[in-house]
Amino acid sequence: MLAVTAKSLSRDDPMSGWSLGEYREPKPPEGWTTVKVRAASLNHHDVWTLRGVGIDEGRLPIVLGCDAAGIDEDGNEVIVHSVISSEGWVGDDTLDPRRSLLSEVYDGTFAELVAVPRRNLIPKPPAISFEEAACLPTAWLTAYRMLFTNSGVKPGGTVLVQGAGGGVATALIILGAATGYRVWVTGRTEEKRARAMELGADNAFEPGARLPERVDAVLESVGAATWSHSLKSLKPGGTVVICGATSGGDPPADLTRTFFLQLHIVGSMMGSRDELVALARLCEVSGVRPLIDRVLPLAEAREGFEAMIRGDVFGKVVLELP
Ligand SMILES: NC(=O)c1ccc[n+]([C@@H]2O[C@H](COP(=O)([O-])OP(=O)(O)OC[C@H]3O[C@@H](n4cnc5c(N)ncnc54)[C@H](OP(=O)(O)O)[C@@H]3O)[C@@H](O)[C@H]2O)c1
Repeated sequence: MLAVTAKSLSRDDPMSGWSLGEYREPKPPEGWTTVKVRAASLNHHDVWTLRGVGIDEGRLPIVLGCDAAGIDEDGNEVIVHSVISSEGWVGDDTLDPRRSLLSEVYDGTFAELVAVPRRNLIPKPPAISFEEAACLPTAWLTAYRMLFTNSGVKPGGTVLVQGAGGGVATALIILGAATGYRVWVTGRTEEKRARAMELGADNAFEPGARLPERVDAVLESVGAATWSHSLKSLKPGGTVVICGATSGGDPPADLTRTFFLQLHIVGSMMGSRDELVALARLCEVSGVRPLIDRVLPLAEAREGFEAMIRGDVFGKVVLELP
């Protein structure tokens, strides 16, 4: 079958280990099943993998891709939950210390077929297209958990999203605006800030800008480049929810500000199967849909990776399969 794989890892030249070609078909073990992938979406995770973050050479070659929507062995339209918990784990999959995401230990979704545990499939609502559904399991699920589970802020509150055009950032803007939050955004270009406003942001600022007032929560995926601004932007008792550190992971801690203003720092990883079901239902009943930057055939996936590495995306890059 055709698949996009990582064949080698390079921190500075991630595309050097990227490969498109024939790959063995999956043989699902007991309790697993095979999904015919109809659409998959790119995440920064796929770039991290090629850079050697969270994986070592011993796992290679491995099929890239965390997200997929497709058809299961019984002909049902399904969405794949990417968090693979260990055998016998009960409860929130993200809290299993032995959990992995597809493409970390097991082959991922950028292929004609992907093998997953049966419990990792959820029904795809018919109103949501395969392309839209393929955006939900990582970026959108992460945004859902950050905003609704981990920020502690209710509709009516003000949240700051660091970064405008990324998969997680656009999900946060759309979900927040659709559910009654006042969403402020920072974006690196005038064009991205304008597009964030079109998505429903209440205001958009240059990175590091002084805000008109402090916010209830900051939703972080950028890391070192924005962390200090995130802490400075919070009200006393406010919360920064962080799911990633695209620009680097070792920012100054600002410990004095953190204790003096009683700030909360909350890490956020993906979301549970139940949260993915709730997110799919939210999209179904509200009409909210993921923003898709471009849809590419699997054979042209390289273009999507290169755009993401350049930071030249606004929304999700989706790969489609016949
Ligand atoms: N913990 C989890 O479960 C989880 C889940 C999903 C993602 N993540 C992490 O979250 C991060 C974002 O993921 P994604 O898939 O949304 O990535 P993406 O689509 O590539 O988006 C990158 C985002 O970073 C922003 N950014 C701002 N300043 C930046 C800088 N100096 N350097 C690089 N980027 C900068 C961009 O903002 P502009 O629009 O202004 O350019 C954009 O919003 C990644 O690090 C990813 O690994 C974690």
